[in-house]
Parts: sequence; structure tokens; C-alpha cells
Amino acid sequence: MSNSATFKVKIEKLPRHVAIIMDGNGRWAKLHGRPRIHGHQKGVERAREACEVALELGITVLSLYAFSTENWSRPPGEVEFLMALLEEYLTKELPIMMDKEIRLHPIGRLKDLPVTTQKKVKEAMEATKGNARLTLNLALNYGGRAELVDAFKDMAKLLKEGKLSPHDIEEATVNRFLYTKAQPFPDLLIRTSGELRISNFLLWQTAYTELYFTSTLWPDFDRSEFIKALLEYQKRERRFGGLGY
Ligand code: IPE
Ligand code: IPE
Ligand code: MG
Repeated sequence: MSNSATFKVKIEKLPRHVAIIMDGNGRWAKLHGRPRIHGHQKGVERAREACEVALELGITVLSLYAFSTENWSRPPGEVEFLMALLEEYLTKELPIMMDKEIRLHPIGRLKDLPVTTQKKVKEAMEATKGNARLTLNLALNYGGRAELVDAFKDMAKLLKEGKLSPHDIEEATVNRFLYTKAQPFPDLLIRTSGELRISNFLLWQTAYTELYFTSTLWPDFDRSEFIKALLEYQKRERRFGGLGY
């Protein structure tokens, strides 16, 4: 798809929040006769490109699923590599995030990440907290169920302390306890690599999200693939249980 396809995207119908399950790095590497880690390296470049597209078009929140609570079950060598890659990415990306006004908002159980990774994440989060063009939700040790458990625990604590009454708990109250807090819900969820599942990503937030599945592997998901997904999204009629007219 040529660059001109970008101009076909209707700015007035842009998703405010796009979430991406970046899957297929391992299969991409296998296909190219390389070790899995090579696929992850290539995947990082695509994450960078996705941020560029979001910035260019004016999408205000981008959620990237980088490491799930279930990914700890992978061989230790791969997990270590992913953490090192993340640290390297954050170091390299920080000046770019400052320049492009990207705010890094990590989502997930950060306290269970290696200490050096936590440090890098916190540094980048602190440095970018005043940036307001694009919020990058980087999902690290993220699980949708874990997020809900954390929210329920925090809520239970306030209930016990008498600072929250059961009668006052509404959907908006639950939202406030999630990692994504005041953000708009994802309008569009993209999953690459042909798997047709959510894999524990943003379970509460995606209740009315438009889903886009593509067999393209994440390291091949370039700008034109992203635009293709956005154009498909713009054809959808979102009804939210109503009649749509
Ligand atoms: C996605 O690619 C990246 C992470 C989950 C960290 P995979 O590593 O899951 O690649 P496949 O699914 O094995 O091809
Ligand atoms: C989902 O991909 C998690 C990330 C992209 C970080 P997985 O490869 O872990 O998901 P499953 O195991 O195929 O469901
Ligand atoms: Mg996978």
C-alpha cells in the first residue's frame, strides 16, 4: 500500500485508542531460519513504527502488549532476552519520546519485573509524565485478570476502611481502579499472527472494542498494514447495543 493510503484515513473517524497484541515474532524468525530472539528484535522496530503512525494521525492512546503474565512460562533465556531488549528499547527511545511528546504509561504488575527493568521503566515514566501528544500504554507483565484482581483488592481495602460504600460502586468506579484509569477504552484491537483470541489483554476495557485479526506476523506489520486496519475499522458500524440510526 502506498503512502497515499494514509490520506484515505478519515481523520474525523479515527479511533482515539488502539490496542495491539503484537504476536508472531517467533514464527517470523522460524520462517527466516533465525532464532526466536531475532523476531523480537524485528518486532521492536514495528512497535516504534506503530507509534509513529499513531502520532502522525493523531491517535491519542496506543496500548502495546509486550509481555503477559503468562509469558513467564517461556524458557528463562527468552524471558531474559525480552527484559534486556525492553531495557535497551527504553534507553534508546527516551530521547525520541521526549522529542515527540510521548508519555510512557506502563500497565501491568511492574513490581514482579527484574529490578533493572523496573528502574528503566520508572525513569522513562517519570521523564515523560508531562508529555501529552500520545500516551503509550506499554503492557509489561500484564494480565487482564490480574488487573481486575488488583482493582478488586484496592477497592476492598477502601471498603474496609469505610472510604468507599458498596452502594457507590458503579462501572465508572471500577474504571478508576484499573491501570488505564481515566483513559478512553480501546476503539480498535488489532491482533497479528492469525490467532483468534484475546490472550488476557484489556478484558474489561475491550467490552465494546472493534476487533481486527490479521494473519500478518508482527515483524511484518508495517505502516501500510496499520493503515489497512484503520481503514477496515472506519467501515465498521458501532452500535453499542442500540440500532445505529
Ligand atoms: C509475540 O511473539 C511477542 C511476545 C509474546 C513477547 P511470540 O513470541 O508470541 O511469537 P510466536 O507466537 O511464538 O510466533
Ligand atoms: C500474547 O501473545 C501476549 C503478547 C503479545 C505479549 P502470546 O503469544 O503470549 O499468546 P498465546 O500464548 O498465543 O495466547
Ligand atoms: Mg505468540
